[in-house]
Order: sequence, then C-alpha cells, then structure tokens
Amino acid sequence: MLIFSGSSNKSLTQKIAKHLDIKVSPAEIFVFPDGEKRIRIQEKVLDKDCIIIQSASIPPDENYMELFIMIDALKRSGAKTIKTVIPYLGYQRQDHIFRDGEAVSLEVIAEILVKVGMTELFSFDLHSPKIPEVFSVPVKHLSALPLFAEKIKKDFNLDEIVLVSPDMGGIRRIKQVSEMLGNVPFATVEKNRDLANGAITDAGLTGDVRGKTAVIVDDMISTGITMVEAANLLIENGATKVFVFATHAVLAKYADKILQKSRIERVVVSDTIEVPLYSLFPKLEILSIAKIAADALK
Ligand code: R5P
Repeated sequence: MLIFSGSSNKSLTQKIAKHLDIKVSPAEIFVFPDGEKRIRIQEKVLDKDCIIIQSASIPPDENYMELFIMIDALKRSGAKTIKTVIPYLGYQRQDHIFRDGEAVSLEVIAEILVKVGMTELFSFDLHSPKIPEVFSVPVKHLSALPLFAEKIKKDFNLDEIVLVSPDMGGIRRIKQVSEMLGNVPFATVEKNRDLANGAITDAGLTGDVRGKTAVIVDDMISTGITMVEAANLLIENGATKVFVFATHAVLAKYADKILQKSRIERVVVSDTIEVPLYSLFPKLEILSIAKIAADALK
C-alpha cells in the first residue's frame, strides 16, 4: 500500500501514514507562474494499491484540481486502486437544487473524481447521510463524533450539560452524540437562511438550556456566524457557558477573530482541515482523526 499527499493537509497525511506504518511516497507538485500545476508521481505504482489524502479546504477549487490531476497521474502510472481520502468534502452543501437554475456542484465533483480514476472515497461527517449516493464508487462515511463524545465525557460532568444542534439539519448528528453519552438531553436552534446570500434571517430555540453548560455540535464552522449566534441565543435563554465542537474547521473570512471574541468558552475541531498558522486562536483546540482514517484504510 502506498500513500500520497496533496498540498492541503500534509500533517494529517503524515499522521495517517504513521498509524499505517508506511512512509509517504514522493510526488512532485510543480506550480507554473500562472498557477497551473504539473504533478509527477515519483514512485513505481504499477499494480499497487494507492491512497491519496487531500482536503477540499480553502481554496477548494485549487485543492480539487490538484487532486484530480494527482489521481490521473496515478492512474496513468498503472495504480491498481486509488483510494481517495477527502477528509473535508468541499461542495457538499450544494448536493441538490435549492432554487431553479442552480447546478448540483457535488455531482460535478463526484463525476470528475470517478472519471479520472478514484476507486473508493473516504470522508468525514458528511453534511447529509445521502451524499454517498451521489458517487458511483464505494464511499466510507467516517465520523469524528466518537472522538468528540470521548472528549465531552472526559471534560464535563454529563449531568450539567445539554447538547445543542445549531440548526434543524444537525438533529440526526446531535441524537447520535446524545446516544454515545447515555442519552444526554439535547436542544435545537431553528435557523433560517436567505437562499440567495446565505445570511441567517432568524433563529429560535427548542429545548431547555437554563442553568446548563451548552455543548454545540456541528459538522463545520465556515464563517463562524452560526456558532456565535447560537451561543448568544443559548446564553439569552439561560445557558451558563457555551462550548463548541465541529468536525471541519473551514474558518472562512474572519471566523478565527469572531470566535475568539465571542461568548464561546472553547472551540474544539478535528484536523480534517489543516488550520493555517495565521488562523489559529487561543480558544481553538484540535483533535486528530488520523487513527480513525488509518483504521478504515487498513
Ligand atoms: C449548515 O447547515 C452547516 O451545518 C453549518 O452550520 C454551516 O455551514 C456553518 O456556516 P457558518 O459558520 O458560515 O455560519
């Protein structure tokens, strides 16, 4: 088994390789002055099982393009299988048509990945459980939630917390975590978005959070606005403290700054996305999904 890394998450690749007890194989990624890339696999892959790790983090289009070309290079060099780990699957929020005239971006991504040679996909905490159906190759839907449940069990008194989904779409996720923790109570924020620009238009709360430590669990933090607004709503409704857990630290725009300045005590994420040094902030804590990925790849 050979493992290759795209440019987006080299530290995760190293950790996964360590768990698999193999070295990361070399690939030359040359960037032309105009930004185009030339990729050359520098190892014999003929008839070998190959793995590529690449997250579709910021900039997603560039990272995807690099991944497409890397898969192509492996396929042309005769790789037997190309297992592709996209820990954070970009474009998954556009998995169906919300308004007339829209593209289904995720289908475009899925078609290209399969066309260029991906034989199996591994990804974490997909936005919807139906996403694997978009792919014509097997998909392993992995999750950071057991890691979060373990951490919650260790850091909190379970009698004092209430789990919170920051939107209706996350109820399935929050129920799973609640079960992992022996049916801890949960509440839900109901938020509505303007479909044209994504802005949150209104939010309400279902469930009792008074006198409790609220632990929000979500799949991703993009701008951070969902988390900050949910935290404000929870505190207005009597929660004593708010902690946040999210698998994918997309951290777009000023997310790091607004989360640091917010009433949230701590923001726990996983390393499906490598947080750049300039986006790290004191309240941020990062847990590794490397072992979960490695176990699935064995
Ligand atoms: C939405 O459905 C997702 O689960 C996240 O809540 C959302 O993508 C977070 O976005 P932002 O951080 O920009 O509010």
